[in-house]
Amino acid sequence: MPSEVTDRIKSSSKPLQPFSRRGATLHYGDFLDASAEWTAPTVIISDGPYGIGSFPGDPASPEALPEWYRPHIARWAERALPETTLWFWNTEIGWANVHPILASHGWEYRACHVWDKGVGHIAGNANSKTLRRFPVITEVCIQYVRKVTIKSNGTEKSLKQWLRSEWERSGLPLYKANAACGVRNAATRKYLTKCDLWYFPPPNAFELLAKYANEYGNPDHKPYFSLDGLRPATAQEWTKMRAKFRCDVGITNVWREPAVRGVERLKNTYKCVHMNQKPLSLLERTILASSDPNDVVWEPFGGLCSAAIASVNTGRQCYSAEIMPNYFIAARERLASHAAP
Ligand SMILES: C[S@@+](CC[C@H](N)C(=O)[O-])C[C@H]1O[C@@H](n2cnc3c(N)ncnc32)[C@H](O)[C@@H]1O
Repeated sequence: MPSEVTDRIKSSSKPLQPFSRRGATLHYGDFLDASAEWTAPTVIISDGPYGIGSFPGDPASPEALPEWYRPHIARWAERALPETTLWFWNTEIGWANVHPILASHGWEYRACHVWDKGVGHIAGNANSKTLRRFPVITEVCIQYVRKVTIKSNGTEKSLKQWLRSEWERSGLPLYKANAACGVRNAATRKYLTKCDLWYFPPPNAFELLAKYANEYGNPDHKPYFSLDGLRPATAQEWTKMRAKFRCDVGITNVWREPAVRGVERLKNTYKCVHMNQKPLSLLERTILASSDPNDVVWEPFGGLCSAAIASVNTGRQCYSAEIMPNYFIAARERLASHAAP
C-alpha cells in the first residue's frame, strides 16, 4: 500500500463514506453488501479475481475461482434485467473454470473478446524456458446476456417458444401472422418458427403481431402477447426483453490495445497504484456497445474504478464497490479530479 495513502487512512477517524460525482458512486466495502441499494444494471463489468494471487483476496489458483465467484454471480443474476449485458474479464483458464457457474445462473454466452496487449507486454513475462510455454500477452473479456424466459400457463418459455405459443393460443392460423406484420412470409418463417432460423421480432413487428392477435384472435383467451396478464405488451416493452447491442464498423473480437501506460496510468512516484488498471478505451467500448446514455453500469470489483470513469466519459450512471481502503481512496481521488471529455 503506498505510504501516503496508509497515512491518510490512519489519520481519518470517519469510516469511508460512499462518494458520488457526475452520476458515478463509489462504495467502500464488499460488493455483496454495497450493492443492496443499487439501481438495477443495464451493464455489469466484472474485473475481479483472476486466480493468480495478484491482490489481497485473489485466490492463488484458478481452480478456486468458481466458488469465489458463485455468490457474486448469483447476485448479478438476481438483480439483472432482461436487457443486462455482463462483460466478464479474466484469464482464459479463469473464465473456463467460472463459465459453468455463470451458465447455471442464466448467463448466456455471446462472445469471447481477446485483449491483445502486444509484444511490448512481454518484458518480465518471457521466462519461457522455465515456464515451457509461449509468453502470455492476452486477457479475455466475455460478453454474456440473460437467458430470458416468460412464465405462461405455469411453465417458463424462451422468447421463441412464448411467441409461438401466444399466436397458437389466439387460434389464428400461422400464415395470418404475415398479414399481421404486412410481410410476405417473414413473420411465420422468422418470428414464429420452431427452427433455427428464428430471430427476435423487431419491436414494430412485435406490436403488429400483438395488435392483430388481440383484434382477431379467440376472444375467450385475451390478452395475447401480454407481459402483465392485463394488456398486450408495447413495442417499447418488447425492446427491453433483450440486451442492447450496437457495434462500430471495423471492431472485431480481437482488441489490440497496449496495457495502460502514460498519463492514464495511476502512479505513486514510480510504482503503479494498481497492477490491474484497465484501459478506459476498452471499457468505454463495452459500455457504448451495450447501453444508452443514462443507463446504469455496475462495477462490482472497482480497483481504481476505471469503469466508473468510463461511465462518466460516456454519460452513463455507475455504481462501483472496492473492498481495499487504499484502492478506494485512490479511486475516489481519481473520480474527484476527473475532467470528463
Ligand atoms: C482486478 S482488480 C480491478 C481493477 C479495475 N478494473 C481497474 O481498472 O482499476 C479487482 C479489485 O476488486 C477488489 N475486490 C475483490 N473482492 C471484492 C469484493 N468482494 N467487493 C469489492 N471489491 C473487491 C480488489 O481489491 C481489487 O482491487
